[in-house]
Amino acid sequence: MKITLSVLKADVGSIGGHIIPSTALINEVKNFVKENGAGLIIDSYISHTGDDIAILVTHDKGVSNESIHKMGWDAFLAGTEMAKKQGLYGAGQDLLKDAFSGNIKGMGPAVAEMEFEERPNEPFVFFAADKTDPGAYNLPFYLGFSDPMYCAGLILSPKMSKGFTYRIIDVEYTEKDKIIELNAPEEIYDIAALLRDNERYVIESIYSRTSKSQAVSISTTRLHNIAGKYTGKDDPVALVRVQGEFPATGEVLAPFQIGHLVAGFMRGSHNGPLMPCKLNTTISYFDGPPVVTGAAFCVKDGKLTEPADVFDHPYWDYVRQEVSRKATDIRRQGFSGAAMLPFSELEYGGIVDKLQKLEEKFKLVN
Ligand code: F6R
Ligand code: MG
Ligand code: MG
Repeated sequence: MKITLSVLKADVGSIGGHIIPSTALINEVKNFVKENGAGLIIDSYISHTGDDIAILVTHDKGVSNESIHKMGWDAFLAGTEMAKKQGLYGAGQDLLKDAFSGNIKGMGPAVAEMEFEERPNEPFVFFAADKTDPGAYNLPFYLGFSDPMYCAGLILSPKMSKGFTYRIIDVEYTEKDKIIELNAPEEIYDIAALLRDNERYVIESIYSRTSKSQAVSISTTRLHNIAGKYTGKDDPVALVRVQGEFPATGEVLAPFQIGHLVAGFMRGSHNGPLMPCKLNTTISYFDGPPVVTGAAFCVKDGKLTEPADVFDHPYWDYVRQEVSRKATDIRRQGFSGAAMLPFSELEYGGIVDKLQKLEEKFKLVN
């Protein structure tokens, strides 16, 4: 059976700052999807990571389906109403347009979707990250799909020996989607040359070169490109099919042990290590650190199992300790150098005015 996985994610308000959506907001979105998804979707899973709420649905309507996107948009509007009623912070923050116009992409919420022929058993992982941007997945999915140091299957499994095709998007270009396709392993130096720049070149999807099936879909929204001003970081979601011709779940998870430094953290303007956290985690230290969660499922005829929490294991407690240490280390240097993002990536416009005023006070003295 051909099915579609769609995940739509937005920050429409949270408790106590940018921390966690309220139970009432989450229930509102859940009930909305239950009532309005009848006859449209097969199954759903509503969750939150930090201040973002994500609607994962299965259906047979294909990607970019207007009815699916409209239902997601309306669910976020219903959530926003509840957020306003409760006085939640940042109510409706990610809903950047006034009226729905056919496709939720480009309207604020993040979207990742995949249509594929279900295998007899179909495992996948749904990742959600908060306080960071889509480039946060560049390193883990480069290593997990192309480096035998992390993905043993590249050496050991004949189903994976041909490698993977990466579709990489230039997120600076906003007129249309500007995409390049590169093959690993032959072109890994070119892939690495692009993926080192997390703020410009972002993995959009990955395909098996053996079966040609899609393995990965990542949301690539850049909120500040849509709104033209600070609206929070993009907080990306990703869908990753695993096992068989794709890396094993554990091979996809392995690179998250690095806790690599990503853009985001406080005011979307700093570098911080990406911490793999348990499902439904909150945000805390310095509005961070940037977090990623993973819910693993199997799907049969579009019906989802309950989620397995991939980072809920004693091993990841150890990783979280290490990542906490790394977060503390970089925070010790405050605003200086590598701790804060370069000027072009700072999410608050106030500093532009400040620097302009200071420029006028400079004097040429010899
Ligand atoms: C980062 C984020 C927070 C806010 C910060 C200030 O993506 O959402 O770090 O930037 O809490 O928020 P405001 O400007 O809404 O007071
Ligand atoms: Mg968020
Ligand atoms: Mg937010």
